[in-house]
Amino acid sequence: MKLLKELFENNRQWAEQVERDHPGFFEALSRQQSPDYLWIGCSDSRVPANEIVGMLPGELFVHRNVANVVVQTDFNCLSVLQYAVEVLGVKHIIVCGHYGCGGVKAALTNNRHGLIDNWLSSIKDIYAKHQAQFEQLDEDSRLDRLCELNVIEQVHNVCRTTIVQDAWDRGQELSVHGWIYGIDDGRLRDLNTVVTGKDQLEQIFRFED
Ligand code: CO
Repeated sequence: MKLLKELFENNRQWAEQVERDHPGFFEALSRQQSPDYLWIGCSDSRVPANEIVGMLPGELFVHRNVANVVVQTDFNCLSVLQYAVEVLGVKHIIVCGHYGCGGVKAALTNNRHGLIDNWLSSIKDIYAKHQAQFEQLDEDSRLDRLCELNVIEQVHNVCRTTIVQDAWDRGQELSVHGWIYGIDDGRLRDLNTVVTGKDQLEQIFRFED
């Protein structure tokens, strides 16, 4: 039986290093977490949330799924969002996609991949909505553009939840950002999509306060 000993050894070294750099770090964290940020990202192993923004445990509340999709019927994502906004009081929600996303790529094809094709179905909706724009692009640019548009769409989906709108109605300071990460250069790019209040949403998506 393989016990994955090296992972435990890595962990021991890491915990010792953190404690050396920040004495009392874990003891202090064990009492409470108060992250300012909720990260909604892709499950892709090449996009590790904390590492790419240089954050320590306790600084980032994280939800990841294939292709960083936010659907209002996903209780997993909604529960993370509700807890982050209402209990932890995060100030920023970051939806971070990445170029070369396998989930987005799968949605761009007609191939079958199993159950996951259902999960990725909403990404096909984004393609369909912007089809004319995609027809002008070559294959690589199509994937890049769909990765970007997917982030923007998910930012809006976050804002369309009752959770985020309730926070704004209470006067809670909360902004939702759309970013994209390059797995080939390790750099984040801001898609300049920031929503900070209900007035920035299309009328049909605004709930009465
Ligand atoms: Co991905």
